[in-house]
Amino acid sequence: MAYAAFRSIGAYAPTDILTNEELSKMVDTTDEWITKRTGIKERRIAAKDETTSDMGVEAAKKAIQRSGLAKEDLDMIICATISPDYFCMPSTATIISNKLGLRNITAFDISAACTGFVYILSIAKALIESGMKKNILIIGAEKLSAITDYSDRGTCILFGDGAGAAIISATDNKDEAIIDIHTGADGEYADLLMTPNGGSGSIHDSLDQEASSCFMQMKGNETFKVAVRTLTKDVVENLKENNIESEAINHFVPHQANYRIIKAVGDALKLKEEQVVLTVAKYGNTSGASIPMAINDIYEQGKLKSGELMLLDAFGGGLTWGSALVPFSPLK
Ligand code: UT7
Repeated sequence: MAYAAFRSIGAYAPTDILTNEELSKMVDTTDEWITKRTGIKERRIAAKDETTSDMGVEAAKKAIQRSGLAKEDLDMIICATISPDYFCMPSTATIISNKLGLRNITAFDISAACTGFVYILSIAKALIESGMKKNILIIGAEKLSAITDYSDRGTCILFGDGAGAAIISATDNKDEAIIDIHTGADGEYADLLMTPNGGSGSIHDSLDQEASSCFMQMKGNETFKVAVRTLTKDVVENLKENNIESEAINHFVPHQANYRIIKAVGDALKLKEEQVVLTVAKYGNTSGASIPMAINDIYEQGKLKSGELMLLDAFGGGLTWGSALVPFSPLK
């Protein structure tokens, strides 16, 4: 049987920074409130002509270069995004494949909001274990600034832009294998976090550009409570099912939505500070890109070593959630 190994990581963050101070001139908020309630100090904002696929391509190039594989070795690209270059079609993954110069490759997007990276990791794992594919490029990429309402202080303080990519490859070596991935969803909570306009569910006239803009809306506090409850239960169960103690986790890499959510889950697992990977202060919430951007951060700091175990967890619109136990297994 083939196993799925997490071979390499890459990420891209736009250069423009939007600080809490700047936001406090745009909406009724303060640096103190944002820092205390979220842990975010600043976020990156893509240039006007910079697309989600442009950022995904930059992250992918790094992941490919670090994998030791040639781009021609890839047989699939999956992109997780809620801010695609084009709503409906073509998929951002196909645009990325073209920009990478890859032809005749399977490419598609999935929509699982902030849980997107954990979802595409689980799809890649399953397709590799089935023997269908050998080397899959997975990308979480978001230009959330394009769907953020900068007059809504409940959301605009949270979100930023960026991309992260990883290569998942077939291996015979069980020690290199991704151990387990949990994914779940509960559509009963769909209205807590959504872009209500623009789709076939929209109550607005599709020709009314103003009304059909795709800004995110969130019931923040309710989302927060479900996030803490669901994630805590899920990561505890995942470790228990796999007989793994929390001391064995080298890096807890949570979706970077809010420092208080990360802390609550970390505390439930009795994790030490040095086990928890935090990028929320400098990137904010980049949805499907946040986990691979955070993995890339520890990789570039030389903190992620071959064979080390990562615990990933994520929660987002849908509502969706997931967690994954992933050893870092670069080609030697
Ligand atoms: O990534 C995917 C999933 N998303 C999440 O996980 C996000 C989850 N939610 C959150 O991170 C938090 O709920 C927020 C950061 C969005 C909000 O924090 P909170 O502690 O839940 O605040 P709240 O919504 O309960 O609001 C508390 C107060 C309210 O004022 P009153 O009614 O007490 O007078 C809000 O109007 O804070 C006010 N408020 C603000 N004040 C200053 C809300 N947003 C702001 C703001 N600046 N930006």
